[in-house]
Amino acid sequence: MNEPILNPEQLADQLLLVIRRRPNDRIELEKLSKKFNADQPTIKTAIRLLISLGYRIKLKKSELIFLSAPDSLIETELGYKLKSKIFGQNIVCYNSVKSTNDLASILADDGAPEGTLITAEQQTQGRGRLGRSWHSPPGTGIYMSLILRPKIKPELAPGLSIITALALAQAVETVCPGEIKIKWPNDLLIGGRKAAGILTELSAEKGKTNFVIVGIGINVNQGVGSFPEEIRDRATSLRRAAKRKVARVELIKGFLHKFEKQYLQFISKGLASALPKVRKYSSLLGHPVTVRAGQKKISGIAESIDPQGRLLIRTDNDLIPVSAGEVTVER
Ligand code: BTN
Repeated sequence: MNEPILNPEQLADQLLLVIRRRPNDRIELEKLSKKFNADQPTIKTAIRLLISLGYRIKLKKSELIFLSAPDSLIETELGYKLKSKIFGQNIVCYNSVKSTNDLASILADDGAPEGTLITAEQQTQGRGRLGRSWHSPPGTGIYMSLILRPKIKPELAPGLSIITALALAQAVETVCPGEIKIKWPNDLLIGGRKAAGILTELSAEKGKTNFVIVGIGINVNQGVGSFPEEIRDRATSLRRAAKRKVARVELIKGFLHKFEKQYLQFISKGLASALPKVRKYSSLLGHPVTVRAGQKKISGIAESIDPQGRLLIRTDNDLIPVSAGEVTVER
């Protein structure tokens, strides 16, 4: 039976599913025309739409050859063969935005479902922790925010940053094995330089969590010299560590799958079950550190992370839990 008539975008989506299963093969337009109940000019228009999105397709008079998909942060690619069941089931992709976290908050306020993913190819006012900015040039990095609606007490929310860092480390591990470290609470370092950061923002009232926005910035394909001078000696990219270009779409999908697993475990069992894995990646635990939070300064051995996600510092006569701050390792 013929397929129902589709609009050009729907037709392009459907065609893509068929042609990408046969890469480098000659596919007759006539066959597609029959399958999709559309004349050949309409099929060609839909194929040109895909080409304009970055798909490499050789379009000839009566046939086409699918060559490859783009590594672009677009719904069709991020949603294709996505293993996670909640995270990324609703995806909103932008070319350029001020901050994906800001947009995520607006969408969450409007009732967007848990797991909604917002991505951008570029941010013009990307935000980092502690009021800093996040360098977000077009096309090379990953800038994304995820809307979560966990039924947890607000004081447990810092644990979400920790499991995000864990899932991100696990995902990056597949790209450059043995290189990634988590610096509490949620910086990802390679060779002591920052490769990714997490900005978790909470909306809560009367002891109840409304939603949490987990914002993630990853330096993926930036070249060594492309970082602004003020962060050049502290920043790195996955490309630099892997010594090759890294596929952003695959990295995001891998992360979403791993993060969803960690998240469901966190919701049902708390942070404790993730801590052994966090410990494995930690750049701090067991080391002498100084934590600065405002005017306060605590020095001691970073001993552990508690179920609320606080760093426990062993001083001469105490074990002090720290909720937030800048940590430096003392050598
Ligand atoms: C940090 O390490 O300071 C956190 C950086 C978080 C950056 C990401 S990029 C996507 C999302 N949108 C933002 O404005 N910030 C986060």
